[in-house]
Formats: sequence, structure tokens, C-alpha cells
Amino acid sequence: MNGPENMLPNETSNGLENAAEEGDGRSVVPGGSGARTVTAVRGRLVWFCDDPFLVGTGAAMRHEKDGLLICVDGRIAYSGPYQDGIGRVPEGVKVVDYRHCVITPGFVDSHVHYTQVGMVASYGEKLINWLDKFVYPEGMKYSDKKYAEEGAELFCKELLRNGTTTALVFTSTYPHSVDVLFDRAAKYGMRIAAGKVLMDRNAPEALLDRSVEEAMEQTRGLIDKWHNKAGTRNVYAVMPRFPLACTRDMLTEAGRLWEEYPSVLMHSHIAENADEVFEGRKLFPECRTYLDVLDDHGLLRAGTVLAHGVHLTLGELDTCHRTGAAIAHCPTSNLFLGSGLFRLRDATTPSRPVTVGLATDVGGGTSLSMLTTMNEAYKVGALDGNPIDAVRLFYLATLGSARAMRMDHQIGSLQRGHEADFVVLDPRATPLLEKRTRTGDGSIEDVLFALALLGDAEAVEATYVAGRRVHQRGRKEEKATWSDFPFAWSRYDWKSGSWIPDQVVATTRGWRLPAIDAFAGGLHCVYNDPTDLLHWTVFTKKDDRPGTWSKPESLGVRSHASVALAPYHDLLYCFYSRDGKICWKSRDDQMAKPWGPEREIPGLSSQQPPAVTAYNDDLHVLAVDGERRMHWNTYHSSTGAWSGWEPWKDGNGDIVKGGWPSIAAYAGRLYVVYSPGADADVRWTARDPGGEWWRHRDLEGTAGTGQPRIAHYNGLLYAIGSWWESGKYQETWWAQQGVDVPEWTTPRSITQIRTGSFSGNGLTAYHGQLYTAYFTG
Ligand code: GUN
Ligand code: ZN
Repeated sequence: MNGPENMLPNETSNGLENAAEEGDGRSVVPGGSGARTVTAVRGRLVWFCDDPFLVGTGAAMRHEKDGLLICVDGRIAYSGPYQDGIGRVPEGVKVVDYRHCVITPGFVDSHVHYTQVGMVASYGEKLINWLDKFVYPEGMKYSDKKYAEEGAELFCKELLRNGTTTALVFTSTYPHSVDVLFDRAAKYGMRIAAGKVLMDRNAPEALLDRSVEEAMEQTRGLIDKWHNKAGTRNVYAVMPRFPLACTRDMLTEAGRLWEEYPSVLMHSHIAENADEVFEGRKLFPECRTYLDVLDDHGLLRAGTVLAHGVHLTLGELDTCHRTGAAIAHCPTSNLFLGSGLFRLRDATTPSRPVTVGLATDVGGGTSLSMLTTMNEAYKVGALDGNPIDAVRLFYLATLGSARAMRMDHQIGSLQRGHEADFVVLDPRATPLLEKRTRTGDGSIEDVLFALALLGDAEAVEATYVAGRRVHQRGRKEEKATWSDFPFAWSRYDWKSGSWIPDQVVATTRGWRLPAIDAFAGGLHCVYNDPTDLLHWTVFTKKDDRPGTWSKPESLGVRSHASVALAPYHDLLYCFYSRDGKICWKSRDDQMAKPWGPEREIPGLSSQQPPAVTAYNDDLHVLAVDGERRMHWNTYHSSTGAWSGWEPWKDGNGDIVKGGWPSIAAYAGRLYVVYSPGADADVRWTARDPGGEWWRHRDLEGTAGTGQPRIAHYNGLLYAIGSWWESGKYQETWWAQQGVDVPEWTTPRSITQIRTGSFSGNGLTAYHGQLYTAYFTG
């Protein structure tokens, strides 16, 4: 079998083979085509595949009374009847039983201010005075990055506690107020859209953009830094606050910039309050309507999300329909600020529908709960003679908001292929809900309505993001992890002729194979933390003292596979695959910044880390493409150039196929081991100094090894790996060979150490001894 690598569900089969091990969103699985993270939950499923305002409930809603949801690597691989799907759950994956609960797509809040969590529920004012008195002073506090970090952390956690997995978020004018939010969203794996607020008039100087040019430059910088950035689910939105706070120049440039980056969103406030409309008409007398202020500056089209829209005329709603601009309905805010009642019926009229999402608008809104927001939306509708049913309320809070944000192909649904963000709602969460839902008719419409009107965060049993549970009610904090094991190491002890027992560093957590190499007097280790963020730590040992590991630090990149390390010409190189690209960073010991910038070796796509080693004064790299074919490339530091990828051919002229290679220079030769496929022995070969490759041979007795590793130590070549058996890597083996007898000894178990991370062991010589590092079960 081969070692872990992350893949999307396989379209050609049931998409789930090769998976095993524990349930609950952390399953990690090796197999013929790589590791999978599998989650399975059972419950009453509800989602939408169309707009009930247009096609009616029957055609729009999907309801599975005894349903099963299977998520593979962050996406929904199956959603349907439990009985039809249970056979597809891989052996060993525990199905989490939520049969008493309703499972819907994670809520999507289409307008909210994270910078207002500190002043929500501030008494007594209407919009314009409220902005001056509470919002702007609080917004200025976000010039302090630490204050912003605290706000962002609290905000993300509160969203998840309320079952909200995606939001379109206003920040402040300071670019770092966007950085810290996107950083937190990435930490929790959430899909978040946000942007720097653009505003250059009618607010305190310290909050305003200093110039339109600088605001655009900062916006461009943030788009380049964050928009659809690999390893995150972040999306950028251009954010002019509202016409009252923006000059014509600012709006013009915002429109131009959006044209330059059409895949980002555009988000603003419009027609929330009657005084605002009045002032806006005075400021822009040349515009035919208040909404035209945005249209005239190129800011209305699909991808525009307008908060409020309470005072839009029927003609302006026509404009929204015509341009594709969506409206975020913010009922708790419109009530709290006395702004007015949004006319949902006018907006959604089937002859001229406008895309509408639901939104909390905290801190104008008074709750981050989308259930509470549905509750108030119902009442606003009731006042307008339009009591909105629960099906439509849940639509607005999920697929409706996702459509408004042009994300309905990714989120807002439990349809197969969608990102696996969902919320588990408990109709028995409180005595009142329990009584009400037990007494009701049991129909899904009735249960949803009771949840909407009586529920809040307390009704959220659990929240899942990309198939991982990130919130569990009553539990203090759910760690956002794929898999979480303590780090351990061991070394071969010459005196006793055996390995020392596991040396566990319980505070260092992660999984996959930790790469180790000796460099500049230390034993360097780069590993994947539980969220696959790469970290490094250095072990130093002097004389006979025991040695210590440094506090791990982040390399600032994510890889969904392990890494490879190699010292070469005074630098330590770290190679990894990121979104199919083969990337590397390097460091020397003098650098103030520990690791240099990321570079890419272009021309080959790979989901695995390449094997690397210095040999014959070049850095040699062996990588595996998507079809498991292997390719060589070499680098010379004096030119900084790569030789280019060359397919690796065997004696018959066929390209060598396999996975997870490890290479090492030894006795003037270049040695390779690799895993050829399911249940076959590890294969090995070597290249003579003359350039001839030896025949590829089996390293007998190693079948079931995921990621073999080799290293040169004290005149011998060593190999190490872990046998995979019945759902676990149970034992670690090692073998040696000498210069004169190029044959491996029979692999033997290392009984002193345990490997529980489904991956294998790093291996290197350091300080005169042979070291291995791994994550242990
Ligand atoms: N209009 C302009 N800025 C804001 C804001 O921060 N909140 C609300 N509710 N409306 C606005
Ligand atoms: Zn707002």
C-alpha cells in the first residue's frame, strides 16, 4: 500500500474505497491511491437545489428523513438515504449518529461586521448618529493589530458556535484588519469573504483612507495576498462602505479595480435608512436614483451584494434584477436601528426576482445566530402581510446567501461535490423546543419552523467545516484538526545494539511523516501540524547531555503531504507539494528570517513531496506525477537553474511507476527506494557513478509499507518503514546494506517504537548516531 496523500472523491467509483479508521471527521487512510479523510454522519437531512420563491417548496427542497452524509477530503461524496449509502462507508469509519437532529448546510451570513463585536447592542440611535457615536470609534480601535486579532478570533468562534460556516464580512480601513480575519478563517478552514473598507469622507480622519490611490494599492495588495489563496478558502470583496462615506473618485476607482479583478465580490450598504437616502441624493444629484450612484460607477452586477435595501424603490429593485446585484436582508439590524421593513415579497417576485440572502449585520444586528435572524425575518414579513415559511427562511440562510455571494456551486448545499460545511440542529435542545417539536406534527416544515423561531446557538449541536467538526455544543473548544498525534523520536544505540524506546514530545502535535536531517549542528525536523500547516523544530545535542527540541515554529505554508529535507551547499532545502505544485524553501543558519520565500519547480504536477539529496555536487530531485510516473530534475546552486524534468526510464525504456520515493547518496552511488503499489514489497535500485541504473529489485518482506526512507550512516545504508496491517501501522522495520554486499538484510521489527500516524518515519544520521522521528499513536 502507499502512504497518505489527499485526493478529492474519485468520480469513477463509489469514491470511497481505501478508506478506514476512526470516524468523527478525523479519519486518515492510506490505500492504493492515497489517504482520505472520511466523515460519515446520520440524521435528518435538509437542503435546497433551487429557489423555493421561484419554483415552490417541492421542487426546491431535498429532505431525507433517515439520511446519511459521507464526506471525503472536505467534500460531500454521498448525501441520501441511510440504507442506500451505508454500504459505501469505508470499513472502520464510525458513522456519527445524529438521528434525533436535523442536518442542513452550514449557515451563510451574507453581511456582517467582525469589527463590531465590541459595540453590538449600543443603545438609542438611528443609523447616522449610531455610526458616529459607536461604530466609527470602535472601528478605529482596529488600528491596533492585537485588538483586531482578538476580535477576529472571537468572531470566527462565535460564527461556528452559531452554525455559520461562511460569511461576507466588513472589516475596517486598515489592511491588517483583513489579514487577521483571513488568517483566522484559514485556521478554522472556513470559507470567508472579506475586504478592506473603502471610505474617504464623513467620518473621523483616523479611520478614513488617506488617499484613493493608497486605498487602491492596499486593496490590490490584499487581493494578491488572499483572494482564492491556495490552502485557504478566502475570497476577496471590494468594499466601499456606502455612498455617504465615499467620494466620486473612490467609487470610480473601486469600479475600475473590480473590473480588473472580476472574480472578487463587491459589497456595500445601500438604502438602509431614509435619512441616508436623503443625504445620498444630495451628495450625488447627478445620479437618477440613489442606487444609480453605485450603478454609475460600475459597481452593480452579479457578485455585488448590497446590505439592507430597505428603501429601494420598485424601479431600483428592477435595476438589481437587471444587473444581477443581490441584496442581503438584515432583519434584526433593520429593526434594532429602526431603519424600516425590507419588502422581501417585492424583491423575490417571480416575474422580476432579485437574488436575496439573509444576514445578521452585527453590530447593527443584534445576534450572530442565523436562526434568530430567521425568526426576525419571519416577523418582518408578517408585518408586511407576508409570513415567510420555514422552508424559505432556511433557503435564504443557506443556498440563498450562497447564491448572493456567487458561491452556490461550492457551499450552501448538501449536494454531492459541494464543500462539506454543515450544521447539526437539535430540535430537543431546550425543554421548550423539545415540548414544541414533540407536540407538533413532526413534518420537516414544522420542525424547521420551531427551530427558526425558538432556536439560537443552543440549538446547534455541532458545526462541521470541510468535513471536520469544528464545534460541538457543550464542549469548551473543538480543535480544528485532521489528525492529532504526539511527536516522538528514537535513536539507535550502539552500546546496546538496539533502539531506545519512544521519546515522546507530547506538546508537539501533528501527523504524517516528519522529515529530519542534520544541518548546521542541529537535527532539523519539518512536519505537518494537525491542520497540515508545516512546522519546524530543531534538536540540539551537545556531548553526552540529553538534548532538547526547540519550540516549533510555522513555515507559513500548508501541504497535504509530508515534506523532504536535504542540506546542500550551506543551505537546508525543504521540498513539499502545495496544490499540486512542487515547491521549496531554503534556510541558512545566519538568516534573520528563518526560511526564505517559497519557490516552485515548474513543469510537473505532484501531490507528493519529491525525494531529494545532494549528489555529485548537484541537488537531485525525484518526483511522482498524477499517474504515479517518476521524473528526475537537478539543480545547481551556482546557476540557480533546474535541468528540467526527465522521465525516469527502466531497462525496458518504460517510465518507472511508484510512489513516495526516498533517495540517498551512498558509496558514490545514488540509491532509491519507493513503494510500487498496493501490498507489494518496497523496490530499490541504485545508479553507478557512470550513470548506469541497476535493475529494480524488491526489498523483500516490506509489503504494506507506505513511505520507506533511506539514509547513510556510519558506513552503511539504512532503510526504515512501517507495515500497515488491519487499519493501523503496527510495526516499524529497518534493514541495512554495506558497500561490498549491495543486498539488504532481512527487515526486522523495531519493537521499541510505535508509529501511529499512518505515515512512517523520518531517518537521518546526527551527532554520530542514527535518528528516527515519527508521530505515535
Ligand atoms: N452603513 C454604513 N456603514 C454601516 C455600518 O457599519 N452598519 C450599518 N448597519 N450600516 C452602515
Ligand atoms: Zn452593515
